Amino acid sequence: MEYLKIGNVKIKKTAALAPMASVADRSYRILCREYGACYTVSELISAKGLCYNDKKTAELCTVTNGERPMALQIFGDDPEFMKKAAEICMKYEPDIIDINMGCPVPKVVNNNSGSALMKDTARAAEIVKAVKSVSGVPVTVKIRKGWDKALVNAAEFAKAMEQAGADAIAVHGRTKDQMYSGKADWDIIKQVRESVSVPVIGNGDIDSLESCLAMYEQTGCDLVMIGRATYGNPFIFREIDSYFENLPYSPPSVEERMEVMLYHIRLILSQLGKENEEKAMKEARKHASWYMKGLYGAAGFRAKCYGLSTYDDALRLAEEFLELQKRQSL
Ligand SMILES: Cc1cc2nc3c(=O)[nH]c(=O)nc-3n(C[C@H](O)[C@H](O)[C@H](O)COP(=O)(O)O)c2cc1C
Repeated sequence: MEYLKIGNVKIKKTAALAPMASVADRSYRILCREYGACYTVSELISAKGLCYNDKKTAELCTVTNGERPMALQIFGDDPEFMKKAAEICMKYEPDIIDINMGCPVPKVVNNNSGSALMKDTARAAEIVKAVKSVSGVPVTVKIRKGWDKALVNAAEFAKAMEQAGADAIAVHGRTKDQMYSGKADWDIIKQVRESVSVPVIGNGDIDSLESCLAMYEQTGCDLVMIGRATYGNPFIFREIDSYFENLPYSPPSVEERMEVMLYHIRLILSQLGKENEEKAMKEARKHASWYMKGLYGAAGFRAKCYGLSTYDDALRLAEEFLELQKRQSL
């Protein structure tokens, strides 16, 4: 098994879970780690929110052992706020601090944060230096291919971030303008790999063991990071991990998918507390709805997930769906 090192943090060279706001929360990260994700990153955290003592923002910073090695990801446009935010993050003992320079959402880019920083290399470098000056842990940067068709600057930008002190660069092979449409450009990841000496994390459109191996092969990246293909599918990490560990792998049965879905819901319930069952179940609905994708009756299952209000509802739905599968296979 190969490992890479980001600063002093040793990470298995398999596949990492991408940061995903409103999806890859603590329960999700714990689950994916258990299934073999080698590294996790928090949802994006506002530097200003942290500095102004926003309780909800601070809750995003908790790092549990089940999620490590884990980065806390912060975003903002002001080096001083980012520095202060990194200091606050350090109290939560992350393994790494990651700076978001890739978010395309208007609320973020209109404040000159996220991928807007790719239009202002000098400011982005100041931010890296400021965060680095107070973080006793490695500092990484997550970028995109560029801002738009006219500004495809990931390779030069990554070099500047390395010079400012970044210990690794994650690259999503789309421009800000593309948001999530079109195909991710892996060639740009290769170009970034060739322009810096620190580890490069390749990201965009990995949805199988085969595409994970292809990303390693075609880009030379040091680590692969997966986002959307993990929806209802932590098994992708088990498949990739088994491959690198030389272990046999068999895809999950319907029963196993259902067990893991229920386990995922229990993780959400345990994070939010039994007294918050209603809130937890609201949160669980979208996750549950993803687990049966591609199976007979999946559309009906998905629709029913949006009516889940209690854990018992989920148990009943699971039984009903498994019954349907049995009848279908007769
Ligand atoms: C729902 C959602 C939320 C996301 N939130 C974040 C985020 O908080 N921080 C970040 O750097 N990227 C975020 N991303 C981008 C992903 O980390 C990743 O770069 C992108 O989805 C491409 O990878 P994929 O093709 O494997 O999904 C988000 C993506 C999605 C779909």
